[in-house]
Amino acid sequence: MVPSIQLGLIGLLGAAAVHAAPAPTAASALEQRSSTCTFSGSNGAASAIKSKTSCSTIVLSSVAVPAGTTLDLTGLNKGTTVIFEGETTFGYKEWSGPLVSVSGTDITVKGTSGAILNGDGARWWDGKGSNGGKTKLKFFSAHKMINSKIQDIYIKNSPVQVFSINDANDLTVSGITVNDADGDSNGGHNTDAFDVGSSTGVYIINPAVHNQDDCLAVNSGTDISFTGATCIGGHGISIGSVGGRSDNAVENVTVENCSIQNSQNGVRIKTVYGATGSVKDITYKDIHLSGISNYGVVIEQDYKNGSPTGTLTSGVPITGLTLSNVQGTVDSSATDIYVLCASGACEDWTWSGVSVKGGKTSSKCKNVPSGASC
Ligand SMILES: *[C@@H]1O[C@H](CO)[C@@H](O)[C@H](O)[C@H]1NC(C)=O
Ligand SMILES: *[C@@H]1O[C@H](CO)[C@@H](O)[C@H](O)[C@H]1NC(C)=O
Repeated sequence: MVPSIQLGLIGLLGAAAVHAAPAPTAASALEQRSSTCTFSGSNGAASAIKSKTSCSTIVLSSVAVPAGTTLDLTGLNKGTTVIFEGETTFGYKEWSGPLVSVSGTDITVKGTSGAILNGDGARWWDGKGSNGGKTKLKFFSAHKMINSKIQDIYIKNSPVQVFSINDANDLTVSGITVNDADGDSNGGHNTDAFDVGSSTGVYIINPAVHNQDDCLAVNSGTDISFTGATCIGGHGISIGSVGGRSDNAVENVTVENCSIQNSQNGVRIKTVYGATGSVKDITYKDIHLSGISNYGVVIEQDYKNGSPTGTLTSGVPITGLTLSNVQGTVDSSATDIYVLCASGACEDWTWSGVSVKGGKTSSKCKNVPSGASC
C-alpha cells in the first residue's frame, strides 16, 4: 500500500508545513488531507484560526484564547477532526462572543480524557444572566454542523448559555459535561446547557449537566432526541418557548431515560402568547424527578417576554404529547402538575405511568385534554 505510506509520511511533515505555507501543488493537497496540526498556548487560537483549513486534525492543546477572540473553527474542511486536550482558557471581556464556534460537514469535535474548557464564568456572573448587567457571551456555537459529532467535551463555568445548536443536520452530541455548579451560589443565571433551533436530526446522548437554566430547550426543529441525561440545579428539560421567532415548529422530539434533580421544573413545554407555530409529536419516557421546586410537569401556552402571563392563546397548538413513566417527587411547596391550555389547542395526548408526588395539586389547570390529568 504505497499510497498510504506516502500519506503517513506527509502527515508527519504536516504540522511543520502549516508554518511554511506550502505552495498549492498536488503534493500540498495531499498534505492538507492528512496533516495533524497542534496549537497551544496564547498564540494557539490565532494560529488555529489562520491554519484551520490546512489541517485534517486540529489539536488544541492547553490553548489560552485571548479576550475578545472567538476560537473560530467555522468553515472547516469536510472530515476535519478537532481535539481539545489539557485546559482551554478564555480571557475576560464583556462582548457578544461566542467563546468557541464550529461549523462544517463530517466534523468530529472531541475532548481527550481530562480535557476541560474552562469559561471561568464567575468573572461575568452577576445574577442577571442574559437579562442585563454585564454583557455575557455564549460558550459554544455549533451552527451549520452537518453529519457531525461532538463528543466527550467537559465545559466548566460558562458565562451564560453553553451549547447553541442551530441549523444542524444529523449532529450527534455525546458524553458532554456541563459543570456550572459554582454558579449556584455565585450568580450564574441563564446557563442553558443545550439550546436547539432550526435543526433536523440532533441526538444528544448521556449529558451530565449542573446549571441554572434549561438542561435542554428546543425552540424549533425536528427529529431531536435527548437521552440518558442527568440534569441538576436548572429549570428542567424544556420544549420552548415556541413562537415569535423566524422558525416556530417543533416536531418529533424524544426525551428518554433522564433524571432531573434539584431543579425548578421537571418536564416543561411553553408556548408564546399571541404567536403562531406548532409543537407536535413530543415524547417524554422514563423520566425520574427529585427535589423539584416549582412544577414536576408544566405545560403552558401563555408565555410573553420569557415569563408566564396566565393569558392563553391557541396559535401554537401542542399535539401528540406522550408522557410515559414520568415519576418522582417535588418539594412540598411545589406543584405536581400544571397544564394551562387554550381551548382546543392541546390534542392527542397520551399519558401513562405519570406519577408526580409530594407537592400541591393545581387548581388552575385549564382545558386539560383527555388522556392527561392535572
Ligand atoms: C423521529 O426522530 C427520530 C430521531 O430522534 C428518528 O429516528 C425517527 O425516524 C423520527 N420519526 C419520524 C416519524 O420521523
Ligand atoms: C440511561 O442513562 C444512563 C446515563 O444517565 C446510561 O448510563 C444508561 O445506559 C441508560 N439506560 C438505557 C436503558 O439507555
